[in-house]
Amino acid sequence: METNAPKRRDSKKSLRVKVISLGNAEVGKSCIIKRYCEKRFVPKYLATIGIDYGVTKVQVRDREIKVNIFDMAGHPFFYEVRNEFYKDSQGVLLVYDVGLRESFDALDSWLGEMKQEMGSQANMDSIVFVVCANKVDLTKRRVVDEGEGRLWAESRGFHYFETSAQSGEGINEMFQAFFSSITDMCENGGKRPVSEVSVGFTKEQADTIRRIRNSKDSWDMLGVKPGATREEVNKAYRKLAVLLHPDKCVAPGSEDAFKAVVNARTSLLKNIK
Ligand code: GTP
Ligand code: MG
Repeated sequence: METNAPKRRDSKKSLRVKVISLGNAEVGKSCIIKRYCEKRFVPKYLATIGIDYGVTKVQVRDREIKVNIFDMAGHPFFYEVRNEFYKDSQGVLLVYDVGLRESFDALDSWLGEMKQEMGSQANMDSIVFVVCANKVDLTKRRVVDEGEGRLWAESRGFHYFETSAQSGEGINEMFQAFFSSITDMCENGGKRPVSEVSVGFTKEQADTIRRIRNSKDSWDMLGVKPGATREEVNKAYRKLAVLLHPDKCVAPGSEDAFKAVVNARTSLLKNIK
């Protein structure tokens, strides 16, 4: 029998996506996933052997998303196993332990390994990256602060979240933002929307702040040779002040970097005739 009722519009098609977790061994990748999927925390360390695979379904707006999670082993020993699994990922969880600087410094080499394994497929603009600064519950042993982590992440267009698999802090918010961005990307034809992470600062500003944080003395901080003249110091100072002035620069850590540059200039000028 025919009716005049309008045809029911099918809800949007469901999506299947693949996400992977990356980061040094023992930073908490498996625990973050377990906290989200099973709502529990395991204090005992059970190293992932090669790779763990799981599936979860989530709802983003009016779409059902089937998420295939490939949880990688961080130990170098498992390189031969995990290198097969980089391809065709729409999302990457990049995890470090805020109490271990080497796990933060290693993020670049994790990206490097991923690019190398993806070869010609390595189009990083079609992948959503979320950086998890994990184990924030262990406040006393923290060595990588929020500004530093956020700067690394946001200067690359990646999301940044402070997380604790132990307490659950930040975990749901992080996954919600992760899956919602992946959905946006898929609806945007597989390209990460440009406005995805509003950065609001330039790469030059981010690189300069990082260089200032790592400088070994005041000369190095201003980027002049030891023994430089007053004019050279002032010229270098003016350039940095324009770049980092808190009125002009919203990059995380810019205020501290600006203060450090002011102090470096003052102490150098005191000793130059
Ligand atoms: P691999 O599988 O070897 O690459 O390690 P992983 O990154 O998966 O680490 P895993 O999740 O197994 O956690 C390593 C250890 O850190 C375990 O003892 C966890 O209990 C502990 N851990 C993980 N996340 C947290 C956290 O947020 N806070 C605290 N205090 N401990 C955590
Ligand atoms: Mg693991």
